[in-house]
Amino acid sequence: MGLTALCPGTFDPVTNGHLDIIERASQTFEAVVVAVLENPSKQPMFSLEERVAMLEKACSGIPGVEVAAFSGLLVDFARERPQVVIVKGLRAVTDYEFEIQMAQMNHRLGAVETLFMPTNPSWSFLSSSLVKEVARFGGDVDGLVPEEVRAQLRERLGPTGGDR
Ligand code: PNS
Repeated sequence: MGLTALCPGTFDPVTNGHLDIIERASQTFEAVVVAVLENPSKQPMFSLEERVAMLEKACSGIPGVEVAAFSGLLVDFARERPQVVIVKGLRAVTDYEFEIQMAQMNHRLGAVETLFMPTNPSWSFLSSSLVKEVARFGGDVDGLVPEEVRAQLRERLGPTGGDR
């Protein structure tokens, strides 16, 4: 049996940068589990159910991908599955500083390995936070997120931005 890639995140909302990593992971590993963090301490724009549904739709054409929600420690979720490695995208050295800490902590807590995949340079500037900020001020996020997500941002914020 081959390895399963565990791609964790808040995905509030999923971006084309996330999808690039998920797609490349599906080409490299036998299976991919996209793990969506519930994280009650953060105030996401989209509910857990909305984030999972957006990912399921966006990943429907990528073979071998399952989307699952989790809360609590990622290592506890990882331990429920055999032959799992955490796969994270790295955009720049600024990502590395926090990612290496999380990777080392996850290894210490649960002996789970983390592998880093360099982000496609086309998406190295892209984050969910920036997408939300641009959308809040009425900017166009066309080409940065799946069309369905763009529509949901418009629905949530209106055509010129601003929380409803
Ligand atoms: O998309 P994000 O918010 O950058 O993803 C961060 C995430 C979900 C990967 C990270 O916060 C996480 O794994 N949280 C679960 C709680 C946990 O295990 N914390 C210890 C990490 S060392």
